[in-house]
Formats: sequence, structure tokens, C-alpha cells
Amino acid sequence: MQLAHNPITKILFEKLKSNGIPNLQNLMFKKDRIKHFEFKLGDLTIDLTRQLLDEEIKDDLVKLAKASNIKQKIMDMFSRKKINTSENRSVDHFSLRNPNRFQTKEWIKLKNFANKILDKKEINHIVNIGIGGSDLGPFMVTEALKSYSTGIKISYVSNLDPSQISDLLENCDPKKTIFIISSKSFATTETMKNAQLAKQWLLKSGRSFENSMIAVTASVSKAMEWGINEKNIFAFSENIGGRYSLWSSVGLPILLSIGESNFKDFLNGAHEMDKHFMTADINHNIPVILALVRIWNRNFLNSYSHCIVPYSHRLAKLPSWAQQLEMESNGKSVDIKGNKILMPTSPLVWGEVGTNAQHSFFQFLHQGIEKIPLDILISRKIINTKVLDDYESNYNNLVINAIAQAEALAIGSSDNIDTNKNFSGGRPSTIISWEKSNPYSIGMILALYENITISCGFIWNINSFDQWGVQLGKELISKIESNNEHEELSPSAIKFLG
Ligand code: F6P
Repeated sequence: MQLAHNPITKILFEKLKSNGIPNLQNLMFKKDRIKHFEFKLGDLTIDLTRQLLDEEIKDDLVKLAKASNIKQKIMDMFSRKKINTSENRSVDHFSLRNPNRFQTKEWIKLKNFANKILDKKEINHIVNIGIGGSDLGPFMVTEALKSYSTGIKISYVSNLDPSQISDLLENCDPKKTIFIISSKSFATTETMKNAQLAKQWLLKSGRSFENSMIAVTASVSKAMEWGINEKNIFAFSENIGGRYSLWSSVGLPILLSIGESNFKDFLNGAHEMDKHFMTADINHNIPVILALVRIWNRNFLNSYSHCIVPYSHRLAKLPSWAQQLEMESNGKSVDIKGNKILMPTSPLVWGEVGTNAQHSFFQFLHQGIEKIPLDILISRKIINTKVLDDYESNYNNLVINAIAQAEALAIGSSDNIDTNKNFSGGRPSTIISWEKSNPYSIGMILALYENITISCGFIWNINSFDQWGVQLGKELISKIESNNEHEELSPSAIKFLG
């Protein structure tokens, strides 16, 4: 059932029409607000007190989720039913965060390889060549967990523009560098062209590429055809979607970057979130509740975008990762049966690290015409740094900035003399906070974001696991490359291509 056909949707719209949008300035000061709008799992705290919701709306939203049959859909996913119907596949990335994985041949091959590289210390630089899900997730986590680094350098190449790989290779020693060609399909143009350039560079410097290039893929035969030795191929299942794949062998750069024990903690944190997602009642189910808040803002309050601001330099890449996750998963216009979707799905997800974002787009958030819902992420305590002494006060100031922005957006301020200084307030935000950034907490947060996206998809009744939209562009590129006639192109495109 689509959201437009859900009986609770009509009820919510009717109440919204008669009661209007709740007054956040009043609601957030209510005595028992925290009791009803704060959720906890382990040391993760989700503060929804600054969302445009009262208890009645929250209860109706929970009914909306229940009416969408979300519990059954979650169970179907965890029991590996083929819920990715357009590709006739189950959705298996959860199994990679289950401790049972540590007994599999796939895991043993992966960790033995990583441990050997780390123990021998002959290699000091790992270059991951991949794009989209084969880049954003590992890149973000490597940065997020830099404090846990094994010391090996990890770099990422994604762009088709050769200047990216060229700049990087200037600082690589061919004898001490390994390239990971990471591609589920082993056919993505950007990745294959960059891999070719890396191969040429290795050969030019007298290295055999067999020992310096490995593949991470679901298309083992294609990697072998390309020339990668089978022992250097780390396979993962077709049932792991690209944007959900950082937990698979696509996470090899993460494993190398933080080592086996930390990587296991990272998976365990994510597994903790999955257990909660699978078993918690909808009233307390954090991913489902956050999905409902996203849907409330998107579909009922017409917020077309959703902004994510991590107050953590190490999480600077999280907005880009979350953008692919949500927009590639839920940017859909047909439902799971192929019928036209009647209400909008994915919001436009964007963001930037705080406090930097405060000095670029926060003006728009505070005084722009639209009210843009915001996720503010912050770890309550700093991780120790190696070279600085008096840095605590800087960190405390960062925490104060995060909370002050949420308060200012919600409360606003009025100036009767100068309207330039009027701040309407009533602008919603969620604060997601945790004790300290470590592999476990970061694993939990990423699984939370994935499970929010999946829950939204379940409530909208769309397939969050395919991405047919990306195909059209890809097909046109190869048509143009292989055909000089270009009859199907517009006059402007033909002129441009010469
Ligand atoms: O851009 C579309 C996409 O298909 C993503 O879904 C995927 O993460 C990315 O391309 C890379 O694909 P692959 O891992 O097959 O190279």
C-alpha cells in the first residue's frame, strides 16, 4: 500500500488542516517533552524534541507505519525473502554484520589478506579505485576512524577526470603501493578507466601488476578476464547493493585502515542496531521513528530537502554517503508493483560539516522561506589527540555550537524595529549524539541511517534496493562512444561533440 492509500495519511492531513502545524516554540518547553521525544540505544541518544510533532501526531505516525505493514516487511528482509523484486534478489548486507560471518570462508580470506599486509609492512599505501557505493562508504569510514589507524596510508580515486589519479600517483611508490579495484559490476566506466591508468603506471615502473592489483567484486569472471589472479579477488554477493556494501569486502580499505579487531567492533555496532531494528516495537523502534519523522516533514509539511550536519571533522564525508544512500535508494516514482507513486518519495539530501556549514548555508536555514529539517550529529566527548594539550575547550565550544544552532532554529527571535533581524523559529532539527566516536558507535550510526532509508522505502512501498535510473545515462554514454553518427542526439549535443 502506497502512502497515499494508507488510511492514516488521510487522518493526519485532516488533523493538520484543522489544528495547523504544531507550535514548536511552545511544545519544546513542555515538561514531559523529553520523556516522549528522546530515544536511546546504548550510548546513542536521539533527541526529537525540536521536531514539529506533538504526541498525538507521533502516535498517528506510528499507526501509519503499522498500517503500512512495516513489521512484516522488516521480517521479510531479515529472513532473506526476495524483496528487491525488480532484480529478483534478497537484501543481504545485514548478514555481513552478524557475528556468524566470522566463520565464513569469505571473511577468513579477507582478514588473512589484510593481516598479512599489515604484518609484513612492505606495503605502505593502499589506493582504492571505485565510485559510488564502492567509494563513498569506505572513504567516509576511513576518515571517521582515523584515530584507530594502523598507520597504513589509504587513498581513494573515483573521478573519471585523470587529474585525480595523476595527482595521487605523483606521491606513490610503485614498490610499496597496492591498488584495490572495487566494483560490484566490474564494468563501471570510471573505475575501469582509472584501473587501466594505474595498470599502465605500474607496468611503466617495471612492476608486475598481478601482485599490485587486487579486485573486490560480485563479478569474479569479469575481474579474471581483466587479468586479476583469482587468489587476489575478494568476492561479495550480488544481493549486496552497492550503496549498502561497505560492510562487505568493499570495506577492505577500512579493514586495512583500522585492523581486524576494530573492524569487528565496527560490524558489532551495526549488528546491535540491526537487532534493535528487527525486534523493537514500532513505538520505540529508532530507525522507524526517524523514518516517520522524515516522512512527516517530506510528505505532510512539504519539506523537499533534508540537511545533515555532523559536528565532527572526521565525519565530514557522511553527508555525501547519506546522500547516495537515500537518494539512490528512494528517488523513485513507481511503487514495488510498478504503479505510479502518488506522493513524493526521497527528499533532496545534502549537508556539510559543522561548524563550517554555519558560515556558508546556515543563513538559508535560519531565515530562508522554506523550513529545512536538519540532522545534527555530535559525539559528546572528544577522542584524545596525540600532539595537542589544551584542546578540550575547543571541543566544548563545538558541542555548544551544535546545540545553540538547534535552539536558535527552533526558538527564533523577533525584532520589532528591524525586520532583517527577525528569525521566525519553528525550524525542526534532530540531535543525534553519542558518547565517543569509536568503531562500535560509528557502526551503529551508519546502520541507523541505512535502516531509516529502508524504513522510509517500506512505508512509501517502493523498492529501495534497485537503481534503474542510473542505467539510462550509462547506456547513452556507451552509445555515443561507440557510434559516430549520433542520430538520436539533439543538434546542440551533436555540435558540442564536434
Ligand atoms: O552510480 C550507480 C552505481 O550503480 C551505484 O549504485 C554504485 O554504487 C556505483 O554505480 C558503482 O558501481 P560498481 O560498484 O558496480 O562499480
